[in-house]
Amino acid sequence: MVNFLIFGPPGSGKGTQSVRLAEKFNLIHLSTGDMLRAEIAAGTELGKKMSQIMSKGELVPDEVVIEMIAFKIDNSRDAAGFLFDGFPRTVSQTEALEKMLNERGMKIDSMLVLDVDHDELVKRLIARAELSGRPDDKDPAVIENRIDVYKEKTEPIIEYCSKRGIYQPVNGMGTIEDIFGRLTGYMKEII
Ligand code: AP5
Ligand code: MG
Repeated sequence: MVNFLIFGPPGSGKGTQSVRLAEKFNLIHLSTGDMLRAEIAAGTELGKKMSQIMSKGELVPDEVVIEMIAFKIDNSRDAAGFLFDGFPRTVSQTEALEKMLNERGMKIDSMLVLDVDHDELVKRLIARAELSGRPDDKDPAVIENRIDVYKEKTEPIIEYCSKRGIYQPVNGMGTIEDIFGRLTGYMKEII
């Protein structure tokens, strides 16, 4: 099993690229954002509680996403590996993921971090607002908060992964096709 983190701020292209990469390399794409939105769409109690936090652009509690990921890891074994998108989001989620993988004889093999200019992030998310129906895309102040939360709580994971020698920065500017080419290049070195 080969396990990758697709990392980067909101709007950096994690979801867009993950779908294509998962197909190309036969990886299981696990997006905690998608899982949480599925809970909201299904109208579950958990979804109702989490939607308020998500619509403000804040992070949901670590335990919630850690439990979701643990369940998925144990219930999807038939693949070449996992592609984690939007998880982990805090150092404590990273420690939990490492522990989960280690206990199952796996590890995080590479962390691919999409670097995108601030203005481009905002431009992409505002452009998506009409189509996505996501409440966290509608309000520019919420978009800025999501970017701030990323800097404060999520970016420290980069240092954590650098120390393990698995940090790979990737230029996330340009066309979807160009960025896909860069990502596949780095991933082929690992797989
Ligand atoms: P999540 O769903 O993970 O959202 P996010 O990180 O805010 O990022 P996005 O999904 O908006 O962006 P993306 O990087 O996937 O880019 P995309 O490919 O879509 O999280 C949502 C919320 O859930 C969080 O705020 C939090 O509340 C909660 N949550 C989720 N996980 C959590 C966790 N682990 N812990 C705690 N809370 C958690 O692209 C964006 C747009 O740009 C698209 O329209 C796309 O078509 C377009 N685009 C992509 N690439 C390009 C390109 N090269 N050029 C032009 N346009 C492009
Ligand atoms: Mg996404």
